Amino acid sequence: MNKKPVIIDTDPGIDDAMMLIYAFASDALDVKLVTTEAGNLSQAKTSYNAQALLSYLQVDVEIAKGLEHPILRPLEVAEDIHGETGFGTITFPAPTLPLSERGAVEAMRQVLLASDEPMTIIATGPLTNVAALLLAHPEVKPHIAHISWMGGSAVGGNMSPTAEFNAYVDPHAAEIVFRSGVRITMSGLDVTHKAYVTLPEVARIRAIGTPFAQRVEQMLTFYLANMHETPFHTPNYSTTLRFHDLCAVIAVTHPHVFSGMDCYVSVVVDGQAAGTTHVDYMGRTGLLPNAHVLHTVDRDAFVDLFVDAVTRMNERVQDA
Ligand code: BDR
Ligand code: CA
Repeated sequence: MNKKPVIIDTDPGIDDAMMLIYAFASDALDVKLVTTEAGNLSQAKTSYNAQALLSYLQVDVEIAKGLEHPILRPLEVAEDIHGETGFGTITFPAPTLPLSERGAVEAMRQVLLASDEPMTIIATGPLTNVAALLLAHPEVKPHIAHISWMGGSAVGGNMSPTAEFNAYVDPHAAEIVFRSGVRITMSGLDVTHKAYVTLPEVARIRAIGTPFAQRVEQMLTFYLANMHETPFHTPNYSTTLRFHDLCAVIAVTHPHVFSGMDCYVSVVVDGQAAGTTHVDYMGRTGLLPNAHVLHTVDRDAFVDLFVDAVTRMNERVQDA
């Protein structure tokens, strides 16, 4: 199979960790670079977490540190959801993978320009690095096939009544990316709240029975205990987990698992509604669509893909 070359921009974080496990277990992806965002935690912590997790997964990949802060706003983190370290109560051995000597923006520029074919960027945090790249180096745009982003929402927010976390943390970055002309798939809360996993399904992971599977299960259990309540879309929200970031990677490997609509999306950058994504489902702006906005998921297929990925990664990870 021809693997899709991808760059992953992430702020690990528990659901980011699940997305990374999936991406590196997938036969469909060739991950050329991982870049880190300040988001769920400070830049220092998300970089360390990417190093620690990917070292533990025994993958060999360049990890480049991103920008320290959102473009204009002070950083707000989500340690209440992901824990002070970002992985709940789980710790990983000290990393063996180093941080790259090049920063995220420069690494992305060079990797994109060197690629034989246009690449996909999977972004599961605020879009600070991606926006900086597109502003500073517009010559990379023809080398980007597609940006698959977890963020935004038409249905309501998890940070304010209308703003989703990744859009809220750096709304200016999100607006720059939506205006860039690059093809975007948006996995916002509209679809990620439907992409949930139940406790019996988490038990399928526990049943694998290895220390790796236990770590995954413990991260998920912590995440569940700290999640915001979602009164709709997700049934029994106290016993289900929303796998937000996993949607952005599965939308690349198995796009048919989702359905969505092409819409024009803009981002509110100031005031109380900052971070709100206006999704023009009904074409009221008269503007041409700039994003494919996902709204529906085949949940059974989604869960099977995740459990398969953990099972496959489990065969690779040596954890005594
Ligand atoms: C997003 O916020 C973060 O806490 C998660 O990692 C995900 O990217 C969901 O709103
Ligand atoms: Ca994230």
